[in-house]
Amino acid sequence: MLVFNKKSELITFLEPFFAQKKTIGFVPTMGALHLGHLSLLEKSRIENDLTVMSIFVNPTQFNNPDDLEKYPRTLEKDIEKMKMVSDSILVYAPSVDDIYEKNLNSENFDFDGLEFQMEGKHRPGHFDGVGTIVKKLLEIVQPTTAYFGEKDFQQLQIVKKLVKKHHLNVTIVGCPIFREENGLAMSSRNERLSNEARSKSAFIYAQLQLAKLNFKRISPQETIQILVNNFEKQPDLQLEYIEIADEETLLTIENKEKNKKYRAFIAVFVEKIRLIDNIALN
Ligand code: PAJ
Repeated sequence: MLVFNKKSELITFLEPFFAQKKTIGFVPTMGALHLGHLSLLEKSRIENDLTVMSIFVNPTQFNNPDDLEKYPRTLEKDIEKMKMVSDSILVYAPSVDDIYEKNLNSENFDFDGLEFQMEGKHRPGHFDGVGTIVKKLLEIVQPTTAYFGEKDFQQLQIVKKLVKKHHLNVTIVGCPIFREENGLAMSSRNERLSNEARSKSAFIYAQLQLAKLNFKRISPQETIQILVNNFEKQPDLQLEYIEIADEETLLTIENKEKNKKYRAFIAVFVEKIRLIDNIALN
């Protein structure tokens, strides 16, 4: 497994592949890998001549310093997990300086309003940080295709918008959400949950499935109200938001319209750890 810590070394290695027009798949992550990350990696491996995975806990996208500090960093273990997919993946695990060169600031982006919904409301600056790092990484790796999970559906839509508005020459592919056996969406943050909290968190996906069932027969507002009431009866799960929104605009739905796709989005605190999830409704 080749591991690069410096972008200059990675680019030098990639140059012959650029010249030969080989296809390069790219999977950006913040590490603490789980099967969700590995599913993206496997898709990229199958579809490309070469795959690069980045592991970088990006400081500019954390609005909460405690979350940044406690974010799990497990590079050695991550490399072992990647080997289960293939040992010819290139790993880019840079330092903060290699990426930001002493200018630890985000660019300000206009994502046509996508950035003001849901996560954007609750995590100020988060999507400027995501846009900044994803743009930098795409410029370094210059992939043909980059893979992102629907687990962070708003991020996926924002990255697509970033690529479109900045005319970046890359295809963005969205990949389905990988879940634990009990339905909890896999997340690096799950590692910080107690076993008890992990099993209680299965409630989140169960409620999303209930939303999907209800959405077919009652209004979006009633669908949400049922979930809000159900969460109120769960003292260990604090609901931050539940929204039903248009997949494209991410705007809260007023009335169901034909030919539009909707999703329910949720953020919940469990043992002070913030978990997000979503489900396609139609
Ligand atoms: P991270 O949370 O490590 O996630 C890396 C990629 O894995 C993202 O595209 C995310 O949506 C996907 N992913 C996470 N959990 C998943 C699951 N259960 N099933 C399927 N895919 C899943 O998202 C980030 O890092 C960062 O914001 C990043 C894009 C790397 C920029 O710093």
